[in-house]
Amino acid sequence: MAGHIRWQADACRQLGSPLYSVLLDHVADDVLAGGPSADVLAGHENDPGPSALALRLMGSVHRLVLERCAPALAEFFPSVGGEAAAEEAWPALREVLVEHRGELRRLLALDQAPQTNEVGRAAALIGGLAHVVAEWPGPLRLFEIGASAGLNLRADKYRVALPGGLGLGPLDSPVVLDNAWQGRLPPLGAPLEIVERSGCDTAPLDATTDDGRLRLTSYVWPDQRARLDRLRGALEIAARVPATVDRATGRDFVRRIELVPGTTTVIWHSVTWQYLGVDEQEDVSARLDDLAAQADERSRFAHLLLEPRRRTPSSEWEFLLVLRIWPGGDERVLATAHPHGLPTTWS
Ligand SMILES: C[S@@+](CC[C@H](N)C(=O)[O-])C[C@H]1O[C@@H](n2cnc3c(N)ncnc32)[C@H](O)[C@@H]1O
Repeated sequence: MAGHIRWQADACRQLGSPLYSVLLDHVADDVLAGGPSADVLAGHENDPGPSALALRLMGSVHRLVLERCAPALAEFFPSVGGEAAAEEAWPALREVLVEHRGELRRLLALDQAPQTNEVGRAAALIGGLAHVVAEWPGPLRLFEIGASAGLNLRADKYRVALPGGLGLGPLDSPVVLDNAWQGRLPPLGAPLEIVERSGCDTAPLDATTDDGRLRLTSYVWPDQRARLDRLRGALEIAARVPATVDRATGRDFVRRIELVPGTTTVIWHSVTWQYLGVDEQEDVSARLDDLAAQADERSRFAHLLLEPRRRTPSSEWEFLLVLRIWPGGDERVLATAHPHGLPTTWS
């Protein structure tokens, strides 16, 4: 368990959360010393790696901070206005582990993996939609596999801000994706009209409830202010722009999708494909092939994905934005992106 926590500390260091990396190193030491961390985490020694025990612990602690239940630790958490003096935060975290042991153990016992809905990925996805409407102007029906809380089903309500006052999306949007795009920009002439927004997830979160908002916020690392700002803006938009997220697997979800004349039906997914088992991936792919075969100039169909992929079996993994539109169906790698979407570099 200490090894896993140490590994997560390193990952946080590399991925831009000095606060969590320092705190998790202390937690790992404390586990080995049999301190309060060991007590809170007892029984989780064999939790599987993908359940991300260290991030579940920190997410639970962050939740207490967001609920204003841990004022001394809050002093160090930028998400609630604190200063991230990471080295000084450990005594306050240790105190929280002692004082809130019962609540933390209850939160850890819930069968909940960390759940993030990354608003920055909208930068890539919305540029992909710009390519779709440039080719086939007209209304879009948007369907997302692994939509989490469905925040990116409202991607057209976010502002992609480009130099010189240019950009895409409402100027007064509470979500501003700054420095989002590099390279050869997508075509921006055709309007984006989304007439249907619907997604699925095996563990959906409801962005319109207090608990859903709290969970989404608690899993963003507290010293990553830009991500928190984007999330908070997206939650504001979710409260007024409806989108449904059904509790369903990708397989069951795509089975129910049909094409509608006069529209382009888009199925998209970001950083989700790896979570579908091989069987489910095959079933989803088969349904996409069915829909592709039914598509014509009146009932268009597009498959847009932002997923880790290799261009060839021997190349590096990259986060690629890939589009296919039918009729036609040629596969196009539109862009590469940071795992959190920003920046997206257009090919
Ligand atoms: C890394 S998250 C990405 C969420 C969202 N697409 C984004 O980019 O912010 C992966 C999501 O896939 C969901 N998921 C995992 N297995 C799934 C499945 N078989 N069918 C549908 N969703 C699934 C998870 O619950 C999680 O919300």
